[in-house]
Order: sequence, then structure tokens, then C-alpha cells
Amino acid sequence: MKQINLLIGRPTPNLQAADKLAAASQIILSQPEKSDLALTYGPDYGEDSIREHIGDWLSQKYRPVSGHITQDRIIITNGASGALAGILQKFTDPSYTRRIFLVEPTYFLAVQTFLDAGFGQRMRGVPEDDEGINLEYLRHQLEEDGKTDDTPNTDVPRTKFPAQGYRKLFKYILYVVPTLSNPSGKTMSMHHRTALVELARQYDILLIADDVYDFLAWPADDSISHEGLELPPRLVDIDRQMAGSSEWGNAVSNGSFSKLAAPGLRMGWCEATPIFIHGLSTVGATLSGGCQGQYTSFLVDEMLVSGILKHHIHNTLIPTYRRRYRALVEAIKTYLYPLGIKISTGKPYETFAIDGGGNRAPTILSGGFFLYIDFPDGHQFPSATEIIRIGREEFGLIIAPGEIFAVKGDPEGLKRAQSTFNLGTRLCWAWNEEAVLIEAIQRFAKVVQRAQVLPL
Ligand SMILES: Cc1ncc(COP(=O)(O)O)c(C=O)c1O
Repeated sequence: MKQINLLIGRPTPNLQAADKLAAASQIILSQPEKSDLALTYGPDYGEDSIREHIGDWLSQKYRPVSGHITQDRIIITNGASGALAGILQKFTDPSYTRRIFLVEPTYFLAVQTFLDAGFGQRMRGVPEDDEGINLEYLRHQLEEDGKTDDTPNTDVPRTKFPAQGYRKLFKYILYVVPTLSNPSGKTMSMHHRTALVELARQYDILLIADDVYDFLAWPADDSISHEGLELPPRLVDIDRQMAGSSEWGNAVSNGSFSKLAAPGLRMGWCEATPIFIHGLSTVGATLSGGCQGQYTSFLVDEMLVSGILKHHIHNTLIPTYRRRYRALVEAIKTYLYPLGIKISTGKPYETFAIDGGGNRAPTILSGGFFLYIDFPDGHQFPSATEIIRIGREEFGLIIAPGEIFAVKGDPEGLKRAQSTFNLGTRLCWAWNEEAVLIEAIQRFAKVVQRAQVLPL
């Protein structure tokens, strides 16, 4: 039996735009005026023209209320993971920054970056609610933390000083995937987005939002095209448009071309206030060598300006993912719903798209790479450990243990997981094609039925 892996969260290789990247490389490398720049050390922020093109592209997509996204708000990065490390290096100090909050279940591979930055003991999970984050829980944590000491970590000297280039350190960090989250698939409501930015301003929190799935959104209503879909404003948009914004801002949008062109490019961008972006451009690894995505940013830019990237997203990626998603959901409803397993949707995010008649029509936002299924609560249902074991040993099915999405370092993290998201798992439609997804869910049902006949 051929193994099926439901844990992998990356695009199938044939979606990686190899032919389009080959054409872009040919153009760049065959023209000395382009290749000379693409192959040398670049400016710390990345090439101005490319930053401008990214700003134009984002402005078109998000249509921010506060106006066009100018190049001084953009820095080119080596992808969302590298940018996260850079943000922590520049804007946090374990001897000053009191807590790292991660919305839980969390993107598990981000956790190591916080550990590397020295925050092992300071990490705390904040549970999701139906609208994306349990704000009361977060507020309570902040209030409790404030009671322990009213000046930050006075017992430990601050190790990073303004004179060394650390002009702004944040007291708190909150890491979140607000739209089409990895792993839960949820999208944060407008109410929670606004309240979160307010809270961030009040408590000196930097909101680090991995906005890496936004461009892969489509309307839940199958009869409506994805082309005119209105995306939720990002936290960085809300922070810019809401009265009272500060020079450094309280949000950074961490974007990536990994899901839109190819993960191996290691190229992305960050958007924040100009002074924040300047600060980020002074990370040591950038100062020695310049832009960390120099060559690949030229390739992506070529695809951006020619419209090929947009075409790839709209005509290949979204239709493919949309078909797979539909097949997966149908299979879950057919084979898993009768066993009591359900898709965990949260509160649907209501937005607008353009219907067949050219009118602005309400719809629910759907998309990304992932959805989460919940096992029924109760002693009669097999444990997640048993399901994973039987899947692997008897049915060649690799299932993600829900507990990997808990925040390591939070003493309560695993305990919370056991009563919530470990009673379920994440499913991805980016890696497997429709027929394989359907077979995976058929096998999943057999795994559960097999586990149910074993003695508990
Ligand atoms: C939420 C989230 N952030 C970041 C990444 C990685 O992005 P990059 O390849 O740009 O480092 C992923 C990839 O799975 C992701 O799901």
C-alpha cells in the first residue's frame, strides 16, 4: 500500500512554477543591466524598483483605506521564516521583552525561531476562539504579567542598547496567522483584528502576522470567481488606518512567495512603518551582504511585472487548490461525518466578491492550505495517539499529531492541547491531489473503525 502523508504542508512539485521561473531567469541572466544587479550584493532593503512593484501589487490586492503602499513600507526578505528571525533579533531582547504570545494551535515550525532568540521560558499560548483569538485570555495574561513587576525585568540588565542600533524594543510579541491560518484554517474576524491592534498599542505589543496564505483565498460559494474577492485588512492595515498609530507601529506583515511561486526561492517581504522597515534593514546578516533575497527577488519581480505571477496564482494555484479542497471536504462529509468527526470552521469570515453578473456579492472567505477536523469528545472515541499509530502501521497513512501545534515552553500548552486541538488534526490539500486525498480520507475512516474495535 502506497503511503499517503497528510502531515506535509507544502505545494506539490508541479505547482512550483518551474517553467515560469526558468523564463524569468533567462531574461534576467541574459541582460547584463539586469544580471549585474541581480547577482551582486543588493541594497539592504532590496532593489527600490522591486519594493515599489511589491507595494503596487499589495495595494491592488488589499486596497488599504489609508492609501497606496509606498516602497518605504516594504523590505525584501529571504522568506517569512528568515524575516521572523530578523524581527526578533532587531526588536526584542530576552532581558527586556517579557512574553512571546503565540496564537494556539500554532504554526509549529515558528516555535524554534523563538527558542533560538532566547525566549524558551517566556512563551505562552493564547487559545483561538471562533473569531481567531481569545482576547479575554490574552488581556488577562497581560494584566497578570503587569502585576508581577511594573518595570520590565529590572533584575536583568538590558543587553541591547539604542546606541548599538536597537532603537525600539517591544515589551511583548504576539505571533499569529490571521487569515486562513496554519494550522486551523480560521480567519480572524474584523472585530478581533481591531481589538487586537488596540490591545497591542495599550501594552506595547508587536503583532507579527504571517500573512502568507492571503493570496490563495477564494469564495466559499463555488459559483463565484476568486478574481474579485475582497481580502480582510491585515493587522498592519488596521494599525495604519486607525487613529493613534505610532512611529514604529504595532504590527508587521510577514509575506512570502513560497506559497505563490516556489518555497525554494526563499523570498518574501515585510511591510510595516518606514522606521520599522529601516530598523529591520540593519540586521547584521543584511548589513554584511545586503538584501537577503537579491537574485530571487529579480526573478519574482520579472513574474510580477509581466503579470505571469498573477496568472499563475489565478489560473493554476487557486483553481487547483479549490478543486482539491472541494474533494477533501466532500470526502470528509461522506466518510468521516458518520463517525462523528467534523470540520472545525470557526466563525466564517464574511466578505464580498464579484458574481457572474458583475455585481458585488456577499460570500464567505475560504482558501489557504489547511483545514482542521475535530474528533468527537468522549471516552468512546479512540485516542489521537491510537489513530496515528494505526494509521501509520496498518493503513500507510501519516496523520499530524494535534499536540505538535502546542506552544513549547508554555507549561500549560500541552495540557490545553489534550482537551482541545489534540482531539483532532490538520489536513492539507496542497501536497496531495484529489484522488489521493479521497483515498486518504477513506483510509482515515477505516483507521477509526479499526481503533474502535480494539480494546480501549
Ligand atoms: C504560517 C507560515 N509562516 C511561514 C511559513 C514559511 O514561510 P517561508 O517559506 O517564506 O519561510 C509557512 C510555511 O508553511 C507558514 O505556514
